[in-house]
Amino acid sequence: MANYQLRERISTQEISRCVAGLAERISADYKGKKLILVGVLNGAFIFMADLARCIDLPVTVDFVRLASYGDEAKTSGSVRITKDVEHALQGSHVLIVEDIVDTGITLKWLLNHISTLRPESVKICALIDKLERREVEVPLDYIGMTLESGFLVGYGLDFAGNHRNLPAIHEVVFNEAEPECSAGSAKSSAGGR
Ligand code: PRP
Repeated sequence: MANYQLRERISTQEISRCVAGLAERISADYKGKKLILVGVLNGAFIFMADLARCIDLPVTVDFVRLASYGDEAKTSGSVRITKDVEHALQGSHVLIVEDIVDTGITLKWLLNHISTLRPESVKICALIDKLERREVEVPLDYIGMTLESGFLVGYGLDFAGNHRNLPAIHEVVFNEAEPECSAGSAKSSAGGR
């Protein structure tokens, strides 16, 4: 039996309102510009799909996949790319689409990486800016919601690969004091996201 329960934290209606608000701002800011959305797999896949469909502009979509090295308790800060963008970014305005910012390490690395590909501009849109475990500052240009803490799943976010398909965002509430390390990835087992 699972040693945790899920408690709804952000409803589907709240998510929809939030995504629509972000898309409205993005549509206004990028009018007349060549916009490419770069989603960060896997977590951003649902947010990316909804956001892209709400943006009232022609957009190109691309994806990256990153892996971070860390011990069981903490992200090490070392990131590597396992899938890069497939479009040339020169001459395009890149908007990185991320589901959640936790330590900030992933996005800081990605921002540097995308900048080396010489786009016209690069900005970040994050659905959730979670503050509690921030280690490095990253400029977030579009933020859906700011939360202090919580281990969140659903709407693309997972725990050990599970729950990404939940339409709403839920908080994982453990029945015992500490989650089992074997139950998930380093970040998950740290009770972080
Ligand atoms: C999650 C999330 C972000 C990253 C944020 O991805 O989707 O990409 O962690 O963490 P950070 O701010 O501490 O770097 P994860 O590595 O868990 O992979 P996933 O997207 O496949 O779930």
